[in-house]
Amino acid sequence: MAKPLALVTGGGNGIGADICRAAHADGYRVAVLDARGDAAQAVASELGDAIALTCDVTDEHAVDAALARLGAVPDLLVNNAGIVKFGHLVDMSVADFRRVLDVDLLGVYILCRAVGRQMRERGSGNIVNISSINAITPSLGTNAYAAAKAGLVNLTKLLALELGPHGVRVNSVSPGFVDGGMSTPVFANPRTREIRTKAVPLRRLGATSDIAQAVLFLASDAAPYITGQDLGVDGGLVHSVLAQVPRD
Ligand SMILES: NC(=O)c1ccc[n+]([C@@H]2O[C@H](COP(=O)([O-])OP(=O)(O)OC[C@H]3O[C@@H](n4cnc5c(N)ncnc54)[C@H](O)[C@@H]3O)[C@@H](O)[C@H]2O)c1
Repeated sequence: MAKPLALVTGGGNGIGADICRAAHADGYRVAVLDARGDAAQAVASELGDAIALTCDVTDEHAVDAALARLGAVPDLLVNNAGIVKFGHLVDMSVADFRRVLDVDLLGVYILCRAVGRQMRERGSGNIVNISSINAITPSLGTNAYAAAKAGLVNLTKLLALELGPHGVRVNSVSPGFVDGGMSTPVFANPRTREIRTKAVPLRRLGATSDIAQAVLFLASDAAPYITGQDLGVDGGLVHSVLAQVPRD
């Protein structure tokens, strides 16, 4: 029997690369899509029977061309590609704000639209979108990123309503502090690392593999009745605000 196909955007680095590895270990044939072709190729080569796709998720024509190269409808789509540009909202340029929205929200929509149509026609599939705890409780300086991720969570719920009757489940995962990917420079600072680790109820930073496991769970037969949900994978961080201000 042919292996199921998983398409992972931003699969060339960090969390996305670990999602590719976990999907491969779970028996998927993996398509690693990334704007950085060399990064996509490196992960695909590591896995062996994977496909590398060089593509910017904000370019709908490039996305269509990449999907055509697959020759099959993905069974799992993971919208993981994302960027952040730190700074105060009122000080940033409109161009920067727009670029973050384009990659983190519009790019997700472009992929969901194209692959969602294919899954709807086939009558099955799973989509998992990677959000962030910033969608729920924005951290100062995350500006357009927090706005885009909040939009992504609602987009996920709406898609679940649209595609549910066609056998397609759509969920999101919201990572907390992850020791890797775009947060690598943040946690290279030992003081930040210590403060942030102590703030997490589970007393450790998340690993990229923690996020990958949650994605594969949502897409698996162990979650057949779960759709339209946002799964926090944050060691309890998002619920810890009152723990940070203890009683005397
Ligand atoms: N690392 C964290 O702490 C953290 C926490 C919460 C959420 N997230 C989310 O997890 C996801 C992955 O983050 P990461 O930390 O692994 O980041 P990363 O920067 O390590 O990897 C992102 C990948 O996406 C690719 N990419 C960027 N723009 C693209 C585009 N326009 N088209 C195609 N590919 C593009 C990059 O080339 C890169 O390989 C993101 O959506 C991010 O918002 C990360």
